[in-house]
Amino acid sequence: ARKIIIDTDPGQDDAVAILLALASPEEIDVLGITAVAGNVPLDLTSRNARIICELAGKVDVPIYAGCDRPLGRDLVTAEHVHGKTGLDGPDLPDPTMPLQDGHAVDYIIETVRNADPRTISLCPLGPLTNIATALQKAPDIAERIQQIVLMGGAYFEVGNITPTAEFNIYVDPQAADIVFRSGIDIVVMPLDVTHKALVTKQRNDAFRALDTPVGIAVAQMTDFFERFDKEKYGSAGAPLHDPCVTAYLIRPDLFTGRRVNVEIETQSELTMGMTVADWWGVTERAPNALFIGDLDADGFFALLTERLARL
Ligand code: BDR
Ligand code: CA
Repeated sequence: ARKIIIDTDPGQDDAVAILLALASPEEIDVLGITAVAGNVPLDLTSRNARIICELAGKVDVPIYAGCDRPLGRDLVTAEHVHGKTGLDGPDLPDPTMPLQDGHAVDYIIETVRNADPRTISLCPLGPLTNIATALQKAPDIAERIQQIVLMGGAYFEVGNITPTAEFNIYVDPQAADIVFRSGIDIVVMPLDVTHKALVTKQRNDAFRALDTPVGIAVAQMTDFFERFDKEKYGSAGAPLHDPCVTAYLIRPDLFTGRRVNVEIETQSELTMGMTVADWWGVTERAPNALFIGDLDADGFFALLTERLARL
């Protein structure tokens, strides 16, 4: 199984991504979960991460709180998408499992340093503040990280928080810039692919039909979460952005993309956080990421439903 650290700002779609990983121990070994400020402030994201692990019955997963604000900007949150708690929809109990002592950034650094080189991958599902801070504090870890598989950015789908920026990158563009320049092998799940992973009525019914606490909670989370995209974009259902990351680790064959150069706009207020992907290869800039553009959506939902049934 691939050893990973999930860095997250739950978020209903983060929650589903975590559940998918925890349900797939043959392919994914979740060493720990690190929370970051994003969809909602850090106290809520670190709380929500624990709520989800308890829902999954995996109370031994160490969970750490990380950075409470972006590197150089004020925190922008997304309650308009995820609700006041970040996890609106189901009525889940308060967490009883502990938050670990210590900072998420130190946990990431120590875990990568103490493992064999290139045996640990990072899976960021929120703003890249924790990851960039770890790289700044311990530049030696860059060459020890196997891969970063992240949700963020957009090319043809442009933006969802500004006309040209996707939320995770927009919240901390400086952090994203550090990550994309790190030389680490990066796989990107941008809006181009995640807007094709839509929870239609039929797919939502399939979650609910599992008739387990997890299946019902996922149906309720995606019911809540879909309002925003349906009203705003006329979308057919909730886009499962972050689960594309964990699904990729299990079934990379469900996804297709291109190795391209991706740079982050960090200067212009107008296009701040834009992921400038050289999809057509019109520059000489060397590719630094595999930029995913499409997925087999039916295969993705079949996998997700089958795995959630195991929890
Ligand atoms: C990303 O932003 C958050 O709202 C979601 O959890 C996802 O990680 C989509 O733009
Ligand atoms: Ca997220």
